[in-house]
Amino acid sequence: MNNLNETISRVLNDENDVRAATAPYQAEFPYERDEEAQVTRREFCNFLGLTSAALFLGAGGFAAKAAIDARNLESFSPAQISGAETLAPNSSLNFNYPTENDSAILIRTADGAYHAYGQKCTHLSCPVYYSRDHQRLECPCHEGAFNAATGEVLYGPPPRALDTIAVETRDGQVWAIGRQTSGVEHGS
Ligand code: FES
Repeated sequence: MNNLNETISRVLNDENDVRAATAPYQAEFPYERDEEAQVTRREFCNFLGLTSAALFLGAGGFAAKAAIDARNLESFSPAQISGAETLAPNSSLNFNYPTENDSAILIRTADGAYHAYGQKCTHLSCPVYYSRDHQRLECPCHEGAFNAATGEVLYGPPPRALDTIAVETRDGQVWAIGRQTSGVEHGS
C-alpha cells in the first residue's frame, strides 16, 4: 500500500512540475491543462486497476497449479532398493514403497534406465508384471498394458497411468524418493 501511495504522490508531483514549467507559455499556447491532467490520472488509475487484476489472476493461476501438484505428489522417506544396482537391462524387480504394504515394481529398460511404479493396475488393482518379450508392463486380469518408460496406458481397460515412484541413483545405489499419482484418465 505504501508503494502505491508513493507512486501516486510521485505522479502528482510530476504534474505540479509540468504545470510550473509550462506556465510561462500558457498565453501563447492555450490549452486545458486540467482536462489533460484529468485524463492522465484516469488513465493512470485504469492502468493500475488492470495491472492489479492481471497480477491477481496470475497469482491465482499459480496457486491453483501448485495445489494440484501438491495433491498429486507425495514425498516419503528415501529408501534404497536392494539389488537394483545389479539388475540387468530389460528386466524387473519387485520391492515395497513407501510402506511394506505398498507393492511396487522397478523396471530397468533395455537402455539401462530405471523406472518404478506402484504395482496395482489402475483398473481393478491386479498386480502388473514386466513382460521382457514385449518390453512393457502387463496386467493378467483383463489384458491391460502400460508403457515401461512412462507408466502410461498402452491399451486395455485401465483408466489411467500407473502411479509413478521417483527413483534416483546415489553412489551406484538406486533409491526410491517419492510417489506420484498420475490422475490422468486414459483417453482424456
Ligand atoms: S485389473 Fe488390470 S486390466 Fe483389469
